[in-house]
Amino acid sequence: MSDTYKIGLGNNDTDIRKKADSDFVSFWNDQAKNLTWFSPWKKTLDWQPPFARWFVGGTINASYNALDVHQETKSQKPAILWEGEDGDSRILTYGQILTEVQKFSNVLKSLGVEKGDRVTLYLPMIPELPIAMLACARIGATHTVIFSGFSATSIRDRVDDSKSKLIVTADGGYRRGKIVKLKEVVDEAIKGFDFVKNVVIVERTNNEITMTSKDRLWNDLMNNASDSCPAEKLDSAHPLYILYTSGTTGKPKGVLHGTGGYLTHLYSTFKWAFDIKDSDVFFCTADIGWVTGHSYVVYAPLLHGATQIMYEGAPDFPDASRMWDILQKYKATIFYTTPTALRMFMKFGDDIPNSFDLSTLRLLGSVGEPINPEVWRWYYKTIGKEKCPIIDTWWQTETGGMLISPLPGLETIPLKPGSGTRPIPGVNITVVDENGKDVEPNTKGYLVVKNPWPGMLLTLWGDDEKYKTVYWSKYENCYYPGDYALKDSDGYLWLLGRADDVLKVAGHRIGTAELESCIVSHDDVAESAVCGIPDEVKGEVIIAFVVLKESVTTENKILEKELVEKIRTDIGAIATPKQIYFVSKLPKTRSGKIMRRLLKAIGNNEKIGDVSTLEDGAAVTEVQAAFDEIQKSIKESN
Ligand code: WTA
Repeated sequence: MSDTYKIGLGNNDTDIRKKADSDFVSFWNDQAKNLTWFSPWKKTLDWQPPFARWFVGGTINASYNALDVHQETKSQKPAILWEGEDGDSRILTYGQILTEVQKFSNVLKSLGVEKGDRVTLYLPMIPELPIAMLACARIGATHTVIFSGFSATSIRDRVDDSKSKLIVTADGGYRRGKIVKLKEVVDEAIKGFDFVKNVVIVERTNNEITMTSKDRLWNDLMNNASDSCPAEKLDSAHPLYILYTSGTTGKPKGVLHGTGGYLTHLYSTFKWAFDIKDSDVFFCTADIGWVTGHSYVVYAPLLHGATQIMYEGAPDFPDASRMWDILQKYKATIFYTTPTALRMFMKFGDDIPNSFDLSTLRLLGSVGEPINPEVWRWYYKTIGKEKCPIIDTWWQTETGGMLISPLPGLETIPLKPGSGTRPIPGVNITVVDENGKDVEPNTKGYLVVKNPWPGMLLTLWGDDEKYKTVYWSKYENCYYPGDYALKDSDGYLWLLGRADDVLKVAGHRIGTAELESCIVSHDDVAESAVCGIPDEVKGEVIIAFVVLKESVTTENKILEKELVEKIRTDIGAIATPKQIYFVSKLPKTRSGKIMRRLLKAIGNNEKIGDVSTLEDGAAVTEVQAAFDEIQKSIKESN
C-alpha cells in the first residue's frame, strides 16, 4: 500500500501478544499489578454488557499512584517543566507537587467538597490545573475539566449537568499575547446556580477581577492549608472524571472514567508506545482540556515518574519557532502532537526547525486525526532526522487511552506512513460492514472493538440509556467508535475519518447537531445544515448552510456576523464556520434526511457526483433540484 520504514528500538516481547491473545482478562490482570493498590481486587473483570467493571473489589487512588509512590526515589526529580506563553517558567518536582496537591485537597475539604462531589476546572495550561485534578482525585471528588476556549453557555450547560459544587478558574490566561478573562466567563456561566458554593481563583495574569461572595483566592486558601492529606482508598470503579465531548446528537455528552482500569490502561500504553525511561523528557502539546491532556499530560507521565514539559500558550507564539525552541531548551526526547500542528509547522518551512538542535529526540507521536502520509514523512525526516519512530496513536475520549498504535517499547515492526499499525495487546479490533461482518482486506468499513478494555468509559454521566444507544446498538456486544477504517493485507489498520456527523476541526471534536441547533436558535433562521470540507492545515473546516425565515429582510452580511457571534458565545471560537452560505433550500431525501455529501460537494465547488445510492428516483430529482437551487442562491447572495 505504501512505503515501509523498518525502524524500531530493538524491543521484541512476543510473549505479551501471545498472552493477550489467549486470554485478555488475565493479561490485563497482570498489567494492573504495575500499579500500587491499597487492597487487591477479587475479580479482574465484571462484564455485564455493555457495562464493564475492572478489578472489582480493589481499592486504589490516582493521586497516590501519580505522586506518593515516587517520593522515596524521586522527590527531587522534576515532574513538570512549565513554560508560560509570556516566557515565564517554573519547575515543579515530584516532592513539591505532592505538597501542593495535599494542600489543595485540604482546601477542597475545607470548602465542603466531599468524596463523590463534582468539581469543575476551567483553567489555562498552568501547573495549578494538574494540581487541582490530583487534589480532586486524592479525596475522591470527580473532576470535570472544561477547555478554556469554551464559552459561558458551554460552561453553564456542563456545570449544570455535572452539578459541580465548586469551580476552580483563573483571573485570566495568556493566548497569543492576549489575556483571556476566564473568571468573567465563569461569573456569567453560573448566574443563579445556587448549587455552586464556591469559586477558587488562581491569579495568573494580574488582570483585575471583581470578587463576589462565592469567590476565594487560591493563594489565600493555600497559605492557610495543611500540607498533609492522606489519599482516600477508593473503589477501582470510583469515578475519576467526567469529560464532555461532542457526539452526533444534542448537547455534549459527559464521558465518565473510573480509576483502576483507566490507570492500568494508561500505565501500559505509555510504556509500550513511548518506551518511557527515567531519563526521558516528554512533551505532549495537548491542552489538558481535552482527553489527550488528561491521559498523556497528567496521568500517564506521572504514573511513570517521568519528567515532562507543559506549555501554556499557542504553538506559534510569538513566532513559528516556539515549539522547536522549547524542545531544544529542555532537551526533549519524546514529542507528541497533532497532525494539524505538524501541517502548520510544515508550511512555515524546514529552515525553522533545522536551525534548532533537536538531536535529543528519540520518539515522535501523533494523535487526534488521521495523519497524511506526506506529513508523516516530513515529521520523520525533518524533525526526527530519520531516526525516530512515528507513533501514530488512534483513540478517543471514550477509550481513555490509545487502542491502536505502534508500540516501540514492546516490539519492533515496520511502520507505514499514515497507518496506526495494529491494536494494542489485549484489545480485539476489527473492521466490519454494515451487517457486522468482517470486510475483506483493503476494504473500507467500520472500526469496532470486540471486547471491553480497561480504559473504557464507565458510562455517560447520568445517561446509561444514551451510553447503550450511542456506542453499543449498531452492533451487538461490540463497541462502535464511529470511525471508518480499513485493514490492509498485512493486518495494518488505516483510520479513514469519522463515519458519523462528528467533525474534527484542527483535531477538535465538534458535533454538527450541536452547531446546527445553535444556528437555528437565531430568530431569523428557519433551517441549517453544517458539514466539514477538507482543509490543508486543519484537516477539515466547517461550512454552514442557512435557510432564513421568509419575512427576514436583514442583510446577509449582518446576519453572518450575528451568527458567528452567536456561535462564539454559545459554543466557543473553535466551532466558527469558515463559510456561511445563505440558501433557499437544503438538499434532503424524501424521508427528510439532509444529504451532507451534497453539501460537501457544494462547499468544495465540486460537481454533484453520484446520487444513484438513493433508492427513490423522485428523491434524486428532488435532491438535484435542491443542489441547483443552492448553487443559484449562493451566486445571488454573493
Ligand atoms: C479521531 C482524541 C485517525 C477519530 C484522542 C476518533 C484519529 C476521534 C486518531 C476521537 C488517529 C484520533 N488517526 N483519527 N491517530 N486519533 N482520531 O475524542 O476520528 O477528541 O474517533 O479523542 O479522533 O476524538 P477525541
